[in-house]
Amino acid sequence: MLCLTLTGSTLEENRNLVERNRQWISLAELRMDYLCADEQKIASSFPSTVEIPVILTLRRVSDGGKCNLPEKQRLQLLYETAKGDFSYVDIEDDVKKSDLKFKDPLFEQKVDFEASMKQRGMRIIRSYHNFECVPADIYGKISKLAAKGDIPKVAVTPKSMIDIISLFRIQEELKEVKEKIVIGMGDFGICTRILYKKCGSMLSFCSDTKAAPGHLSAQVMSELYRADTLNDKTHIFGIIGNPVLHTASPMIHNPGFEAIHYNAVYVPFLVDSVRAFFKLADMLQIHGFSVTVPYKRDVQPYLGRITREVKQIGACNTIVRIQNMWKGTNTDYYGFMAPLSSEIATGKIHSALVIGAGGASRAVIWALHNHGIKVTVINRTIEHAKALAGETMSTYDTLENCNRYSGAVDLVVQTTNVGMAPHLGENPVPDFVFSGKEIAYELIYQPKETSFFKRAKEAGCRVISGGEMLIEQGKLQFEAFTGYHYPHWIEPEI
Ligand code: ATR
Repeated sequence: MLCLTLTGSTLEENRNLVERNRQWISLAELRMDYLCADEQKIASSFPSTVEIPVILTLRRVSDGGKCNLPEKQRLQLLYETAKGDFSYVDIEDDVKKSDLKFKDPLFEQKVDFEASMKQRGMRIIRSYHNFECVPADIYGKISKLAAKGDIPKVAVTPKSMIDIISLFRIQEELKEVKEKIVIGMGDFGICTRILYKKCGSMLSFCSDTKAAPGHLSAQVMSELYRADTLNDKTHIFGIIGNPVLHTASPMIHNPGFEAIHYNAVYVPFLVDSVRAFFKLADMLQIHGFSVTVPYKRDVQPYLGRITREVKQIGACNTIVRIQNMWKGTNTDYYGFMAPLSSEIATGKIHSALVIGAGGASRAVIWALHNHGIKVTVINRTIEHAKALAGETMSTYDTLENCNRYSGAVDLVVQTTNVGMAPHLGENPVPDFVFSGKEIAYELIYQPKETSFFKRAKEAGCRVISGGEMLIEQGKLQFEAFTGYHYPHWIEPEI
């Protein structure tokens, strides 16, 4: 189940949020602490106006909410509002039973909040929040909360892959607790929100407003990741990196799986330890994954087999499980060459100027070298250019001398990160004069058009963007992952 967290300041606003997201969600959580005071007074009417099960929550500031009423008043307000037609009410784990007895003018004796709610068929969610960490006794905490017959909810903050492993182990460790809610907040936790069923969680929260750290929108959770339809047979794929959440690869693979009706999902994993990730990969039986910066070298000791390109470039961006062994390939290499294939086949490219001497540049230079193209590498730090040129049997020069190559090469490849955030609008070779005859190839895909790209286009060059390479390498990964060609009838939106 996907639950939409409602953070409007009025009930009307929240009704609109439900309408906008209705097709993707099973229930909604009314965050009463976001409502203005006048609206709080009439919040009990809300569930009957939205025709969807609603969780009632009045979150304290200390638990990441906005309610700063004295505790007694807060609980009294929660009690009064819970007279509405809610399906669940959220009560924090440290609220004592004795604090849940209220005077009510309708009854002579004090009313037991929990008992009266249960009588009306409402379920209680007992929630525990931790914005600092995943506590060591998390399994004990869940068992204790569950022992009272309520639905335990733990929203904790993983800070490492080891914490993520602890959260995914909950499903196995606490099988007997059938109904529970497990949430890993923050950037590390995003994989637990998408794969919430693998943590044994009955639901996952989402919002249009990032109401909690790591929330994705209901549309992304449902349409991109199909989080609520994943099952035990779903093959899990993903991408590891740090940072990783900006990556466009989920937008290539997930629509591809859906188009060929392949029961699989592709999830971003923020990783701080490659070793711990391989543990998780075994635990979740992950079938394959992409590797991005800074782990393309670090993964290699864990691979049972590597291809010739991985060995030559010293970088691996694609890993698949084959007969219980990890096999590493490099689709950047072929993805880079794909847009150039007709020029290569017709022998139109003899020489290339490659700007930059980092990891991306190494893959590009080897690919060009292997196709018989003469490469000159230019770089800000001349020692890096020299070392890479020595390794790849190329020549090298300084950035300042770039114009020596103007009109003299068939291809110019820009491999540095100059032009993407935080270097937006910059160009590593601002003085380079394009003759218009060379092909200009930019590896950056965000933004779509850099200063380098625009200048080449204006000069009349054929230009190739990083987006093309990204899609090509992604399609090859898809083939490695699934054994099927990428569906030709869809165009990934990156
Ligand atoms: P990647 O794996 O994306 O290639 P990298 O290995 O860190 O990343 O390499 C970054 C490349 O961009 C290097 O060639 C770097 O030049 P240096 O070797 O001098 O560091 C280049 N680069 C980064 N910032 C730059 C800048 N402001 N101007 C020019 N080149 C820059």
